[in-house]
Amino acid sequence: MRIVTSVAAMQRLAKEFKAKNVPIGFVPTMGYLHEGHLSLVKRARDLVGNTGQVVASIYVNPTQFAPTEDLSKYPRDLARDKKLCRDAGVDILFVPSDKEMYPAGYSTYIVEESLSKTMEGASRPTHFRGVMTIVAKLFNIVLPEVAVFGQKDFQQAAVIQKMVTDLNFPLRIVVAPTVRESDGLAMSSRNKYLSPAQREQATILSQSLRYARKAVLKHPVSAAQLKSEVAKLISEKNEARLDYVAFFDPKTLKPAEQVKRGDQIALAVFFGKTRLIDNAKL
Ligand code: PAF
Repeated sequence: MRIVTSVAAMQRLAKEFKAKNVPIGFVPTMGYLHEGHLSLVKRARDLVGNTGQVVASIYVNPTQFAPTEDLSKYPRDLARDKKLCRDAGVDILFVPSDKEMYPAGYSTYIVEESLSKTMEGASRPTHFRGVMTIVAKLFNIVLPEVAVFGQKDFQQAAVIQKMVTDLNFPLRIVVAPTVRESDGLAMSSRNKYLSPAQREQATILSQSLRYARKAVLKHPVSAAQLKSEVAKLISEKNEARLDYVAFFDPKTLKPAEQVKRGDQIALAVFFGKTRLIDNAKL
């Protein structure tokens, strides 16, 4: 596995592969890798085959964190991540510095003005501006044919797909299923922050998804009613504080008034300062 730290070297390598018609599959991450990330690497390998190149990036992107958020505390373990990437068959690991990605005087950002405004975008108003900017930059540096994102960040994947369509990026976005712990908790680098009591109660996210799925099984239910039922379920856990629960059309992200099978649920729940998200198709 090659480790590349400069934008120029990564772009040069990517251009060489392009010239030889070698497809590049790309998995952007912020590191502190877990099984969920490794499933994205495996998917990228399946997509480009053994003759293709799988590129993963590790970069904790400061512009997607608000000043009040956990940027400085975001978990990092590059030595462990390198080993995991090597063992998972990554060909090139791109690990740029802040100076490489945002040199002095940097002033260009990408903003999506529709899908990014609800849910995560409403709770974290500058988040998607940072995500889209860094992802666009990474696409221009890595030049992938296909990029793989996790379904756990459902809205992120939708916003990135919209950017790719709107700005004519010549690549395909693939969304891979959420990988879960045996008790249903979606894998996340942030799970590490949870105290034992919070970790135990964090299964309330996946339980809420199951609750909502069951509720709409036979007939549609009013979104307001279902929101208050999920909120009540979550309020029974003393460590949990609901940020939002939303029901919406999975293609347009338009909120549903009557929630039916096939709609999407997404929610965010705080445990102390740790904020976890999850989602599912109902
Ligand atoms: O999902 C993530 O880990 C990040 O938002 C991403 C896509 C790597 C951009 O920093």
